[in-house]
Amino acid sequence: MQQMPELTVTSEIYNEYDYHTKISPTNEGNVISEFPFVLAKQTTAAKFDKDNDLDVVRPKKEVIKIEHSSKTKLALVGLQVWRGAFLLADLITHLGIKGELINKTVLELGAGTGLTSFAAALYAKKVVCTDINVGGILELIKLNAKYNDKLIKSQFKVMPLDFMDINWSQELTDEIRDVDIVIAADVIYDDDVTAAFVRTIDKIMNTNPPKTIYIALEKRYVFTIEHLDSVAPCYETFLTLLNKDKMDDVVYNWTVQEMSLDFPKYFTYDRVKELVLWKISSKPS
Ligand SMILES: C[S@@+](CC[C@H](N)C(=O)[O-])C[C@H]1O[C@@H](n2cnc3c(N)ncnc32)[C@H](O)[C@@H]1O
Repeated sequence: MQQMPELTVTSEIYNEYDYHTKISPTNEGNVISEFPFVLAKQTTAAKFDKDNDLDVVRPKKEVIKIEHSSKTKLALVGLQVWRGAFLLADLITHLGIKGELINKTVLELGAGTGLTSFAAALYAKKVVCTDINVGGILELIKLNAKYNDKLIKSQFKVMPLDFMDINWSQELTDEIRDVDIVIAADVIYDDDVTAAFVRTIDKIMNTNPPKTIYIALEKRYVFTIEHLDSVAPCYETFLTLLNKDKMDDVVYNWTVQEMSLDFPKYFTYDRVKELVLWKISSKPS
């Protein structure tokens, strides 16, 4: 039997800006990129000019330095950096500048290389950065945390969290209980992973005290003969699952809302129209 070659994927972002460096990676085959951003001071009174650009006193240009793969099999996409990570890093930076992460614990799901968690670690009290423990992803996050230790101002913990397994260890249960804000970027690209992800967020939202979840993703379109049009099937699956309580005999104790992307860009990337952001909030008791 002839074996089909396994699909290799590459994030689109590498060719949009020059993030490239000549720094030697720790792991052979990887590259090190530097992702620039505007480091703004935390204030409870951030000001924006008429173009909605952040009006801060002498904002500093900084970079997040990330070791990553340039291409991977679909099962190891976490070893790359995806566009949703930047949109979510923008949002988290925006919340941070407004003082909304002071004394907060942030949990990242499907963190990949850790980029968005490092942005959160500038402003939060504690960041718990998680992903499935395959292909050295957690070791890569720890390595990238070392590269960015100057930026990490919070307590920073890396641990495994697999959406497919909601029988959490006592350690994970304790961590999740203490979380205020959950973030996830670009984890909607496969129907099985999406279903497991929604089960995970449902369990998180059933863990007191109340929490808020922000999910950033890029809608991925494919052309299908069946529809004779471009559709984003994984995104459709995600929306169906998020709204299951409105159709089936399912009770969620949380509500969802799509957010407008009217906050500034701190990171350097293309904020393409396929990027969307969802907010999930606990229902008032
Ligand atoms: C496209 S990558 C996004 C990575 C990163 N958030 C970013 O935006 O650059 C999808 C992420 O989902 C993670 N993932 C896939 N299956 C998972 C599972 N069963 N449990 C937890 N995370 C999973 C992958 O390991 C990967 O980090």
